[in-house]
Amino acid sequence: MQIGVLGSGAMGAGIAQVAATAGHDVILFDKNPAAIERAKEKLLKILNRLVEKGRLTDPEAKAIFGRIYFVDNIYAYKDCGLIIEAIIEKLEIKKDVFEQISDVVSKDCILASNTSSLSITSIAGAVDHPERFIGIHFFNPAPLMKLVEIIPAMQTSKDTTKRAKDLIDSWGKLTVLVKDTPGFIVNRLARPFYGEAIRIYEEGFADFATIDWAMTEIGGFRMGPFTLMDFIGNDVNYAVTESVWTSFYHDPRYKPSFTQKRLSEAGWLGRKTGKGYFDYSENAEKQNPTKDKVLGAQILWRILVMLINEAADALYLKIATKEDLDLAMEKGVNYPKGLLRWADEKGIVHCVETLDRLFDEYREERYRCSPLLRNMAREGKKFYSNPA
Ligand SMILES: NC(=O)c1ccc[n+]([C@@H]2O[C@H](COP(=O)([O-])OP(=O)(O)OC[C@H]3O[C@@H](n4cnc5c(N)ncnc54)[C@H](O)[C@@H]3O)[C@@H](O)[C@H]2O)c1
Repeated sequence: MQIGVLGSGAMGAGIAQVAATAGHDVILFDKNPAAIERAKEKLLKILNRLVEKGRLTDPEAKAIFGRIYFVDNIYAYKDCGLIIEAIIEKLEIKKDVFEQISDVVSKDCILASNTSSLSITSIAGAVDHPERFIGIHFFNPAPLMKLVEIIPAMQTSKDTTKRAKDLIDSWGKLTVLVKDTPGFIVNRLARPFYGEAIRIYEEGFADFATIDWAMTEIGGFRMGPFTLMDFIGNDVNYAVTESVWTSFYHDPRYKPSFTQKRLSEAGWLGRKTGKGYFDYSENAEKQNPTKDKVLGAQILWRILVMLINEAADALYLKIATKEDLDLAMEKGVNYPKGLLRWADEKGIVHCVETLDRLFDEYREERYRCSPLLRNMAREGKKFYSNPA
């Protein structure tokens, strides 16, 4: 099957590499010729590096590169069986482009968007034969990140969902099936990792370094929230937070923070500008955490219980299965454990009691306990009958 990739930026180039590595001929188009040239150079560099590291032989790398056709018009998509769009995150532009592509490809060609924040259903509305439209959400960098979220629109047929999922699975990716809701799984469930960490800082309980220390050293997370936000970019992370909050009709649980907004406004975007929560300049003074184990455990538990509540509520609202919710966080963002399995270990009653205590203290909707957790606590249930 020929695969069409639309947009040759960070995501498009990565997705093209994944599909070509899986043996497909890939038609890569971008409206900006300079972006196509950049993608060509970048892909060559990456493939050469993989040869140097011994991950690919030289003929394999050449064959992969040879399967990617860099084209200057969308008519080259005419024989494709799947088109994955990874262009600018603007609904009207995506709709417009899919309308044009619908006229070029056969009606059996699956059309997919890699959008992180737009509704798949709303894009499908602009597509001829919307039953063949679906969300296929890769993570950055696409060749390295194993997880792919598969998001059927309301209009998507079961057959399209199965074909898309089977195909991406055959590329060696780990797919999870998600309902078309803001943030899908990962960008929704991960919100408290950042939001609650910032809140703890804003209330003066601990500084950035101490919160990061608690999450990594005590919690086992690979990166602390502030290091991770600096890595992602505070502008990007703030934009995702604001988009999820707006899409949920301003549910206070997802409310963005002034701290992050001010950092973005100041241009303290993190590693890419040399300064964010931490200073990355050469002679910068390193922030030292307060290694107080009791404080650390309190910080970890407050953030973790909010993450667990988010995962439980996503299950309650049937966003995905419990297995896919856990898999997404373990494989997508390398959490030390799936959140629902973690809830079992901590005790459902303990989770509910903590959330209720936070709710009583602050009287904020942000801390409302998911009805699922409350019901489970009442009935003495766990998410999994077997321990991990
Ligand atoms: N960057 C990430 O971490 C990430 C992760 C997952 C999903 N996404 C999603 O993937 C999509 C692309 O993101 P990105 O980071 O690769 O962006 P990017 O800015 O790196 O690349 C976008 C490319 O699309 C091209 N483009 C814009 N309009 C076009 C059009 N009408 N026709 C053809 N090409 C067009 C641009 O020239 C550019 O090269 C977005 O929907 C984004 O939400 C991004």
